[in-house]
Amino acid sequence: MATKVAVIYYSATGNVYELARAIEEGVKEAGAEVRFRKVHELAPEEAIKSNQGWSDHALMTEDVLEASMDDLEWADAFIFGTPTRFGNVSAQLKQFLDQTGGLWFQGKLVDKVVGGFTSAQNPHGGQESTLLSMYNVFMHWGAIVVAPGYTDQSIFEAGGNPYGVSSTTHDEGPNEQELAAARYYGRRVTEKATALAASRV
Ligand SMILES: Cc1cc2nc3c(=O)[nH]c(=O)nc-3n(C[C@H](O)[C@H](O)[C@H](O)COP(=O)(O)O)c2cc1C
Repeated sequence: MATKVAVIYYSATGNVYELARAIEEGVKEAGAEVRFRKVHELAPEEAIKSNQGWSDHALMTEDVLEASMDDLEWADAFIFGTPTRFGNVSAQLKQFLDQTGGLWFQGKLVDKVVGGFTSAQNPHGGQESTLLSMYNVFMHWGAIVVAPGYTDQSIFEAGGNPYGVSSTTHDEGPNEQELAAARYYGRRVTEKATALAASRV
């Protein structure tokens, strides 16, 4: 049976979305079944409408399904993405994570394999602190965090973040190096989840 991976993200203006799509490609290359999901938007319509990039992206992704607790139960592995917001996880993704109390209580997130990705405006704008903040939640779940480390040349070429995949906002979205690191990371998390599942049989 194919490994099941959920790529779950929040993106206002599309940078995290593009990383998420590249991660999805890597997950598929590694042979997994994937659910590609955005989390529910919390911002008011007026705020979205006041920003062209935000409203364009919302329209472009209106057909992407919203993530649910069922996706977490279904998946063997999750890879979560968020924009960096003051060096932290966006409220939208955090709100989704904060709904996992029931699954956590039932032990249903224990030993799931998990990874993270983010995008920030500045090269040192808090990518690592955002990822580490997100990972606090995963440790409470008893999940198994698979970081990229320095396990592939693509990680060095994307800026050398060993905590998770990250990008620095560019006019055209993540660059080729960052997208290559994202594809690699999708494969890596999937391969670890597959190996873990095989060891349980
Ligand atoms: C409220 C808010 C807080 C932000 N905080 C940071 C930050 O701490 N560091 C940084 O470099 N960029 C920060 N940014 C910029 C975003 O992280 C960056 O533009 C990101 O690439 C957006 O991703 P998205 O296009 O997927 O929405 C912030 C943006 C907003 C709206």
